[in-house]
Amino acid sequence: GKVLSVASECAPLVKTGGLADVVGALPAALAPLGWQFRTLIPAYRGLLAKLENPVEMWSDPDLYGGPARVMAGQIAGLELLLLDAPHLFDRAGSLYLDETGSDWSDNPRRFAALSWAAAEIAKHGLSDGWVPDLLHCHDWQAGFAPLWARDIPSVMTIHNVAFQGIAPARAIEDLRLPAAEFRTEGYEYWGKVSALKAGLVYAGAISTVSPTYAAELTTPEFGFGLEGVIRARASVLSGILNGVDLSVWNPATDPLIAANYSAADMTGKAACAAALRDEFGLDAQGGPLFIVVSRLTRQKGLDLLLDALPGLVARGGQLAVLGTGEPDLQEGYLRAAARWTGRVAVHIGYDEALSHRMFAGGDVVLVPSRFEPSGLTQMYGLAYGTLPLVARTGGLADSVIDANVAALRDQVATGLQFAPVTADALNLALQKAASLYAQPEIWQRMTARAMAHPVGWDASARDYAALYDRLTGR
Ligand code: ADP
Ligand code: GLC
Repeated sequence: GKVLSVASECAPLVKTGGLADVVGALPAALAPLGWQFRTLIPAYRGLLAKLENPVEMWSDPDLYGGPARVMAGQIAGLELLLLDAPHLFDRAGSLYLDETGSDWSDNPRRFAALSWAAAEIAKHGLSDGWVPDLLHCHDWQAGFAPLWARDIPSVMTIHNVAFQGIAPARAIEDLRLPAAEFRTEGYEYWGKVSALKAGLVYAGAISTVSPTYAAELTTPEFGFGLEGVIRARASVLSGILNGVDLSVWNPATDPLIAANYSAADMTGKAACAAALRDEFGLDAQGGPLFIVVSRLTRQKGLDLLLDALPGLVARGGQLAVLGTGEPDLQEGYLRAAARWTGRVAVHIGYDEALSHRMFAGGDVVLVPSRFEPSGLTQMYGLAYGTLPLVARTGGLADSVIDANVAALRDQVATGLQFAPVTADALNLALQKAASLYAQPEIWQRMTARAMAHPVGWDASARDYAALYDRLTGR
């Protein structure tokens, strides 16, 4: 079968978070199961020049105010379709934000254009005769496509329901939306237009990136106002946990870390830890070494970690943080690093290579998220024997086996979970991590278990294939 996958980002080309990793990994994960992908993303500034064997395969003289075309080609082994529409995508600044850090004011149009092109290709195919059997839309940026291509089998995947692509009702005409569908059972949302809701209402099926998040999405606490819509479509809702690209995230082969290691021979991990402490200016003695690699936002619960930090340090622990995000959180961590030199260190920024060195050198990766649709860093932690300490929510609940009494007795624990998501509960979990760390036999067993836990795409790829089969009647 043939899949047209549509998203606003795709690793390794353009990435602001896990969405890109997943969109970039699906084609290779599904290929062995007989699904051939083409992935449509915007041609942000500079991207076209990277495309190998570019061929124009679709065009529109007036796509929301300017000429547009789709260039097909390859980058990094992916079959890509780049939507070249300079008036919408060829600009300085980041994917979603202008140079002052606010959303581009025309974001609704930019991604309506992406969705429009997707729907046209889904319905009529490309000029080389390629016609997809199925349309796979990711997040709100692709949300209108199922509305415009209602007869095509489609999946709407929610990676994060907090972002919905809301526009005022007066934008209906400008966005080329059918006015008749502006109603509660359509894309109308509290008097406004919602791109994500359109996808949820008109797609053949809805998926999200873990079973627990699928259940959470039907509740007011996690549904961000869309819980009713999602509940109404519960019969076509599924949760499929994200996987990890093991060709990139494998401590035995990772070229970016100080020394390679595996569960059979962990000596390299000590070298990675020493190198990491050195790089961050942390004391050579101390531990466990906790790490955070994350967007610094409330979603990620990193304000709670600041509150729990005095206890972590008092027990002899160390913390290394890599991230960017909300200014007050950045400042909070910088202050902590200044207060506890040698114990707490922070790198504000986005650095893929450094993130590998952190997963290799840490003892525990912290993910105290208030909500987490899937999460990937806890899975990197498992693969690298850096035990995840996570909030019991979403994909974190689904991927980590908590070191509770039963799991420890059965010797199946791979990390720690805490709930409720408060600073107090986090503090208790940090304390428990330190006490387990002080018992090397238990810790080593948990580490071996974690590294043996399958975090690749195999199982989830089969689930996607089954969903595609069902939708296309294969
Ligand atoms: P989200 O998509 O909500 O940010 P995920 O855990 O799904 O959360 O994915 C985040 C991805 O971005 C992971 O691949 C993680 O390693 C990466 N990442 C986040 N912040 C940074 C950073 N500052 N430097 C390097 N990689 C980062
Ligand atoms: C979102 C979620 C994250 C998930 C990622 C990829 O960014 O916040 O939990 O892993 O999408 O699905």
